[in-house]
Amino acid sequence: MNEEQQLHELDEKLRKLSVEGLWAQASAADLATYNKDPHTSVLPHVWKWDDLYGAIKTVGEMHGLDGKAERRVLRLINPAYLKMENRRQRTTTHTMLMTMQLLKPGEVAHAHRHNFAAFRFIVRGGGAYTVVEGEKLPMEEGDLILTPSMTWHGHHNEAEPIVWLDGLDNPLLFSLQVITWEPFPGGVQPVKKVGETTAPRVGTARPVWEKKSYDRPSYNLIYKWKDTYATLKNLSDGPGSPFDGVALEYVNPDGGHTMPTLACGIQMLRPGEATKTHRHNCSTIYHAFRGSGTTFIDGKRFDWNQGDCFVVPLWSWHNHQNRANDKEAILFSMSDQPVLEALKLYREEPGEGA
Ligand SMILES: [Fe+2]
Ligand SMILES: [Fe+2]
Repeated sequence: MNEEQQLHELDEKLRKLSVEGLWAQASAADLATYNKDPHTSVLPHVWKWDDLYGAIKTVGEMHGLDGKAERRVLRLINPAYLKMENRRQRTTTHTMLMTMQLLKPGEVAHAHRHNFAAFRFIVRGGGAYTVVEGEKLPMEEGDLILTPSMTWHGHHNEAEPIVWLDGLDNPLLFSLQVITWEPFPGGVQPVKKVGETTAPRVGTARPVWEKKSYDRPSYNLIYKWKDTYATLKNLSDGPGSPFDGVALEYVNPDGGHTMPTLACGIQMLRPGEATKTHRHNCSTIYHAFRGSGTTFIDGKRFDWNQGDCFVVPLWSWHNHQNRANDKEAILFSMSDQPVLEALKLYREEPGEGA
């Protein structure tokens, strides 16, 4: 028996013992994943508003899903993950999921809670409200509403059709195998009177009689568009960030990231503005809330218009450009930067000449 046959026999024997020799693994594919630069399976991609909104509107006009708003949801699946057999792996990036949901007038999305964190960013319509931990939060275009880990939440619509984007970290929790979900007993949680709404709170003020909770992170539940936009406008005469223009993060009351696993951002690219190139090892999912522009990702051009969503995979060189010379462009975004930072793994690099 030559050495090759001997190794083969040993491999067979080891497999039965649930053991594998590293000599069998030195393939080119393996080497590609261990490099001085990180390697990601996430692909850059743009989802067009007309396609997404068209699909959700069509389904909304059919009556089969009336009253089942939880199912009238579109998942934005990264092209790299389209063929994953398990639905839980068909996600927008390896750590994050973005979905689009339509809630019709008269509908209720029943209350529940889960340990994955989520938010909604309202993109079309208004007049609905979300109840988070008993607090009634009105939903209007451009508002960001958080439903942090383990907060009871449900949605109600008594006005016009409303469309929002949900951002979730459940791919991350799925890979950690710790996902939990539970319905609210009875389906609809009672709404607290204004005087009873103490914790979790709305805004940055904390009633002095309420003790700070150390067993869960602090957070705001709602960021109103009119406040967000006023802040962007106030900063728009300044230099901004070389890589992101006038960019803000929705911070929690301690000044930290939006939630422990997700950072939400909003940035204004002023008319004609083009940012410098950089890269970082967190991934970002964008939504073009206003205007139109182009993002170059690893030298490839990705045009976006109002309503489109797109992904910039981790460690890819990228910069943004507002294509209009007379109008601002506004990008909403979500990223997994807090996870990388918490694990002390975050890296960021400016491009050449930046
Ligand atoms: Fe939920
Ligand atoms: Fe970036």
